[in-house]
Amino acid sequence: MTSAYQNMTDAALDAALADLERQADDLRALNLKLDMARGKPSPEQTALSKPMLDLVTSETDLTDGGSSVDNYGDPDGLPSARALAAELLGVDPANVSVIGSSSLNLMYDCVENGYVHGIAGCKPWCQQGTVKFLCPAPGYDRHFTVTESFGIENVPVPMREDGPDMDVVRELVEKDPQVKGIWCVPRYANPTGITYSDDVVRAFAALKPAAPDFRIFWDNAYAVHTFAGEGEPLLNIFDALAEAGADNLVYEFASTAKVTFPSSGMAWVTASPSDMAELRRAFSAMRVSPEKVSQLAHVKFLKDAAGVAEHMRRHAAVVAPRFALVEEKLSAGLGELGVATWTHPKGGYFVSFEGPEGSAKAIVALAKELGVTLTGAGAPWPYGRDPRDTNIRIAPTYPSLEELGQALDVFVVAVKLVSARLAKAERA
Ligand SMILES: Cc1ncc(COP(=O)(O)O)c(C=O)c1O
Repeated sequence: MTSAYQNMTDAALDAALADLERQADDLRALNLKLDMARGKPSPEQTALSKPMLDLVTSETDLTDGGSSVDNYGDPDGLPSARALAAELLGVDPANVSVIGSSSLNLMYDCVENGYVHGIAGCKPWCQQGTVKFLCPAPGYDRHFTVTESFGIENVPVPMREDGPDMDVVRELVEKDPQVKGIWCVPRYANPTGITYSDDVVRAFAALKPAAPDFRIFWDNAYAVHTFAGEGEPLLNIFDALAEAGADNLVYEFASTAKVTFPSSGMAWVTASPSDMAELRRAFSAMRVSPEKVSQLAHVKFLKDAAGVAEHMRRHAAVVAPRFALVEEKLSAGLGELGVATWTHPKGGYFVSFEGPEGSAKAIVALAKELGVTLTGAGAPWPYGRDPRDTNIRIAPTYPSLEELGQALDVFVVAVKLVSARLAKAERA
């Protein structure tokens, strides 16, 4: 597809460039300081969970069934917290460990377990020479950082509208025993916002890995983060595994980071009984027991899946208008120009933007010059290398609606100007 700038006469392109440079100068003069980089809930959203802080006081009964909240014990978390976590993912509480406040931390622990101790009786990865993880890209940069930090080779895999390209995944996982894992965000993915189709989930469950110590890291970070109603359905990966007669293939993670408080939520992992037994052995060397006071507060506040859904409707009332504004501003500013495409998520925290080939770094740099910070170009790719330099992650949740509108206006000018400059450069 050629862009409107590429289709212009030389004179028209020069005039458009001059006009856009003027617009950029005007914006520069405003000395704006706006931020669309952070995938964080806004202050309005975190305020929704403040009442939770009043639910555990010096008067509170600090027991949970037969468990003491105010002492060691329950290494897998409070029974009520495990029940809530299990209900949210549709799994058996017996297979759930609720530990800590960060699911990323749990993912790190699971990678470390494979690396240091080994999985399912196999040699530790650190003794197996080259070890690889598949990284559907664009994806979540911090996943890639975890495996990179162990010296594991991150291998990009194309993302499609219904999930990772499963032909590529199957080929690599089933033929290469060095492939030990894959990073997945199956619902409202970071950053594309897409949800894996049933076919993709079934294809994951049907994998026959060459390595017995291969595991799918199923990070269901946005399991409940829909903008309207029930949202897009996601097939339960453990149901798909049962259907396929498979076992010991998936570690699933989730947290309340973007339900209650990022950094002070509750996080959990679930897997098959034998995988959980192995992980629990590793966890038991790391800590005596998890943060049960926080778990009690979460259960008192959120109660059950219906309570979470109700709470997430309140988040949606804050978040959905921001995503609608992204759609409105990008459509109005860029819709007719043929320079860009972007995703239209129904949940989650991000919009994934694709500009012309070779434009992303320049757009991010120009937006910065004009006072708008964006996520670094290339960040959603392993090693920060976007092979076509097209992808930019837009994180619209944190700024106020007014700031977001201004930031998007700047972004649109930056995209247009970089696209026009590229069209000009092609003719040189
Ligand atoms: C896909 C994904 N997983 C995990 C996290 C971090 O979650 P936690 O705070 O539970 O570690 C994020 C945060 O942005 C995320 O986007």
